[in-house]
Amino acid sequence: MILDSPRQPAGEPDPGKGPTEWNEGRHGVGPWEGPWPDDERLDPELLEHGDHRNVVDAYRYWKREAVTQDIDKRRHPLHIAIENFENDSNIGTVVRTANAFAVDTVHIVGRRRWNRRGAMVTDRYQHLRHHDTVAELIEWAQEEGLTVVAIDNTPGSVPLETAQLPKRCLLLFGQEGPGVTQQAQDAARMTCSIAQFGSTRSINAGVAAGIAMHAWIRQHADLSRAW
Ligand SMILES: C[S@@+](CC[C@H](N)C(=O)[O-])C[C@H]1O[C@@H](n2cnc3c(N)ncnc32)[C@H](O)[C@@H]1O
Repeated sequence: MILDSPRQPAGEPDPGKGPTEWNEGRHGVGPWEGPWPDDERLDPELLEHGDHRNVVDAYRYWKREAVTQDIDKRRHPLHIAIENFENDSNIGTVVRTANAFAVDTVHIVGRRRWNRRGAMVTDRYQHLRHHDTVAELIEWAQEEGLTVVAIDNTPGSVPLETAQLPKRCLLLFGQEGPGVTQQAQDAARMTCSIAQFGSTRSINAGVAAGIAMHAWIRQHADLSRAW
């Protein structure tokens, strides 16, 4: 059962608000009320104690595996890779955004360890895969028939704003400081840059990943299936 908003009757979203704001101020749902539901996707612990996780209302009380399996039915043929040779703290943000866009898999290249804080536990429902080297990642992408597109604002890059992104695509991001390695750019079909107009040399890698993922979403996703 979804808890009522203090300002709005249940089931009647405020017409002035959008989908991500409808549940503003609510922090999950309390213990299940009413007859015990007979649905194997639901978690008895959550039903008994309430569900305060960072999940959309459609997944309230669902078991963790059930949520992942449901997203699996409609994941996009979009993969994200981020180089992690210096332990980049932006990876959590990348994982959270990838989860929001139902990305197939996030690939971490280099070090296995990464700071999960920014992921806000969304990594539970997101497929993650590690590759020791860029060469290993590229070989895997070729076997899977994915076109690799590097994202960086390096000389010769193509503006992301006008580029046509491949549908079966792996977007590859660099890290703070060095940016995308030359090896990765050489292996990519193209490198796309995000237009900038201020003084900074670059934007945060997590922000860049969000912009690039959304560029793919605008070109290829079925928007009628968004929440
Ligand atoms: C902070 S940047 C560092 C590298 C950057 N080339 C520089 O000269 O400072 C880290 C990563 O964020 C992404 N990024 C940042 N700004 C970008 C932009 N304007 N266009 C495309 N990617 C960008 C790229 O993936 C890049 O490798």
